[in-house]
Amino acid sequence: MERVETQLNVTAGRNQFPPGPKGLPFVGMAMTLRRDPLEGIRQIAREYGDIVRFHVMMQERILLNHPDLINQVLVIQHNKFHKSELTRRITVRMLGQGLLISEGEFWRRQRRLAQPAFHRGRINDYASTMLEIAKARVGGWRDGEARNIGQEMTSLTLDIAVRTLFGTTLPEEAHGVGQAMTFLMRYSLRRQRLPFRIPENWPTPSNRRANRELEFIGSLVYRIISERQAEGNSGRHNDLLALLMGAMDEDGTQMTPQQLHDEAMTLFLAGHETTAQMLSWTWFALSQNPQVEARLHEELDGVLGRRPIAAADFPRLPYLQAVMNEVLRLYPPAYIMAREVIEPCEVGGYTMRPKATIIFSQWVMQRDPRFFDDPEAFRPERWLDGLIDRLPAGAYFPFGDGPRRCIGQGFALLEAAIVIATLARRFRFRLASGAEIIPEPLVTLRPRHGIPMTLHARS
Ligand code: HEM
Repeated sequence: MERVETQLNVTAGRNQFPPGPKGLPFVGMAMTLRRDPLEGIRQIAREYGDIVRFHVMMQERILLNHPDLINQVLVIQHNKFHKSELTRRITVRMLGQGLLISEGEFWRRQRRLAQPAFHRGRINDYASTMLEIAKARVGGWRDGEARNIGQEMTSLTLDIAVRTLFGTTLPEEAHGVGQAMTFLMRYSLRRQRLPFRIPENWPTPSNRRANRELEFIGSLVYRIISERQAEGNSGRHNDLLALLMGAMDEDGTQMTPQQLHDEAMTLFLAGHETTAQMLSWTWFALSQNPQVEARLHEELDGVLGRRPIAAADFPRLPYLQAVMNEVLRLYPPAYIMAREVIEPCEVGGYTMRPKATIIFSQWVMQRDPRFFDDPEAFRPERWLDGLIDRLPAGAYFPFGDGPRRCIGQGFALLEAAIVIATLARRFRFRLASGAEIIPEPLVTLRPRHGIPMTLHARS
C-alpha cells in the first residue's frame, strides 16, 4: 500500500529558531492570530513551513506542522513532554488532578484504574442508555420545527454523560451543570486571552460567578459520591462512577473522594462537550452535502430497516464511520494541542529546551493538501479505501495519540453513531435561512451561535 509522505518543509523561521534572537519575529502573524486564531495558525503554517517559532501575547510558541514531528512529540519521545502550562491553567480549577492534566506516576496510576471502565464490553453496556435518551429526545420533535441543533446536541450529550457517569437523571441540576460548564470554559479562555491576568481571587463579577459555578458543580459531584459511599458497595449501580469507585490498584488502594471528584469532573467535561460538538458539526455538514446525506440514509435504511441501531451493527455501517471520520477531520472538536518540554530533546533537527511550549493543530494538519486531496471538501468517500492506514502517524489525530490518547474514543464513537443513526432515521436538518455558521475556537471547536436548523420529517 502506498503511503502518503512528504519531505520536511522548513522555510522561514529556520534562522530565527532557537538559539536565534529573542523578539517578535512574526508580529503581523500574531495580530492575525488574535483576530482569527483558526486562520492565523493556518497562515503561519502555510507561510513559514513545518516548524516555526512565533510569539503571541509575549509568549513564545513552537508550532509543528508535519506529521513526523507531531508523532515525535506524542509517541516517540512522549516522555520528554508534559501537558502545557497553558492547558493546565485553563482547566485546573475545573478538573483538579483529573486524567486530562495529571502527570507522571500519579497519571499512570489513575489511567490504570480508569482504563477498565472503557473496555469495549463495558462501553457497549452504555449503548442502551444512549439509544433510550436519543429516542426520547427525537420523539419530542415535530416536522417543520425550528431548533438550535448546537444547543440540542449539548443537552443531549449532557443527559447521556449524566446517566452513564452517575446513573441518574438529575434533570434540574444537570441543566445547571451544562450552563456552568459553558460559562467556565468561556471564562478560562477569556482570562487566557487578556493581556494582563486579573488574579482569580479578586472579586470581579466574572471571578465571583466562576467561584459560584465551581462550588455548585463540585458540591453536586461530592454529594453523589458520598451518597454512594453511604450505600456501601451495594452493586446497585452500573455506571462509570461505580466502576471508578470500585477500581483497585495492585497494592489494594482505591481513589480518594477528591480523586473521584476530579476524575468524574474530567470525564464529564471531556466526555460531553467534545461529542456534542462532533454531533453539531455532523448535522451542519450533512445539511450542506445532500448527496452524502442521501447515501448515509440509504446505508442506515438498508442495514437497520426499522429496528434501532445496536453496538454490533457498527462494522456493517462503513459509510456512517466514514462520515464520522470526515467530520472529525474537518471540524475536530479538539482542534489544537500543546506540550511543554521537560527534558532537552531534538525535534526536526532543533534542540528543544525545557519550558518551551510546543503546539500542533488538528485543524491545520487535517486540512493539509499534502495528506488530503481536496482538503476543504466534505468527502466521506475518501475514508472508504483504507486511507486511515496509508496516512502517516500524526496526520490525522482527532483523539490525540500515544499514551495520552483519548480514553473515551470508543465511548464517543459509539455515542455519536447511535445518535446519528437514531436522529437521521427520523429527520433531515436544514440550516435556517440567513444563518451563518462560524467555527469558534474555545476549549473545543464550537459553532459560534450554535446551528439554527429546521426539521424535515423523513417519510
Ligand atoms: C468526539 C469526542 C472526543 C474527542 C474529539 C476527544 C479528544 C481528545 C483528545 C485530542 C485527547 C488528548 C489530549 C492530549 O493529549 O493533550 C483526549 C484525552 C482525553 N479524553 Fe477525549 N475526546 C472525545 C471524547 C471523550 C469522551 C467521551 C471521554 C470520556 C467519557 C473523554 C475523556 C478523555 C480523557 C479522560 C482524556 C485524557 C486521557 C489521558 O491523558 O490519559 N474524551 N480526548
